[in-house]
Amino acid sequence: MTAPLGIIGAGAIGSTLARLAVAAGFDVIVSNSRGPQTLTELVSELGPRARAATVTEVAREADVVIAAIPLIAHTELPADELAGKVVIDTTNYYPQRDGQIDTLDDQTSTASELVQAHLADSHVVKAFNNITFASLGNGARPAGSPERSTLPIAGESTNAKQRATEVLDTLGYDALDTGGLADSWRSEPGTPIYCDPYMPAWPTESLTTDELLAWLLAAPVIPLSAQSADELITRAVRGPAGGYFPETQ
Ligand SMILES: NC(=O)c1ccc[n+]([C@@H]2O[C@H](COP(=O)([O-])OP(=O)(O)OC[C@H]3O[C@@H](n4cnc5c(N)ncnc54)[C@H](OP(=O)(O)O)[C@@H]3O)[C@@H](O)[C@H]2O)c1
Repeated sequence: MTAPLGIIGAGAIGSTLARLAVAAGFDVIVSNSRGPQTLTELVSELGPRARAATVTEVAREADVVIAAIPLIAHTELPADELAGKVVIDTTNYYPQRDGQIDTLDDQTSTASELVQAHLADSHVVKAFNNITFASLGNGARPAGSPERSTLPIAGESTNAKQRATEVLDTLGYDALDTGGLADSWRSEPGTPIYCDPYMPAWPTESLTTDELLAWLLAAPVIPLSAQSADELITRAVRGPAGGYFPETQ
């Protein structure tokens, strides 16, 4: 890929993906809500393949853009600049953070369908939403490695899903196409493939946030095969939206 990979949102997931991307040889442009001047530390850590820009500049300059922002912020994504582009959507619906969203609560829509509706002229692919940032960062492996994991993707455009699959492949993951965005609840909070399969059981003892973070970052990653991923997706049953809320999310 010659165009840089764009990342909107430079928190836990965005910065983890930026690290994986530069390690894999991508040029990366990162952005957040507060402006590029707040990203100097991250860019310095990422090295010469990375730079920071405004959200609008990222949307304009990259042709694949990862949106790693809270779902509630999706309406601020610049639809005009993102028109025609592949947007990889990492969002999950957490009412505790995002507030109640009626069409998700009544299950007439999915988080990524909302993102696609806002970005009507973009090609939204849901991905990276069902793994913690810690497992994501620690679990990347080259193609063919016995420790390689599979992540589900969903979207309406076959070409966009192919492009997303290439990005996942380069970053260190196999992609499993799970269908369209209407079915993307199958990888959302509370479903069998959500976070847990890639990690040991959550600690049962009471931990502070810092202790839990340290535990997450040190936890070994359990590889998930495409077959196992498919089985987990297939046996998902739709429950209350945002029904699962570990302290770290
Ligand atoms: N954390 C995980 O392990 C995990 C795993 C899978 C999926 N997810 C999902 O991925 C998304 C991101 O999660 P996260 O944990 O990375 O969140 P986070 O650590 O809170 O980071 C959120 C990032 O989004 C940026 N942002 C917020 N509003 C924005 C806007 N309007 N325009 C541009 N950037 C904006 C923030 O920038 P500022 O700091 O400048 O406001 C920040 O860089 C969420 O939907 C989450 O549910 C998270």
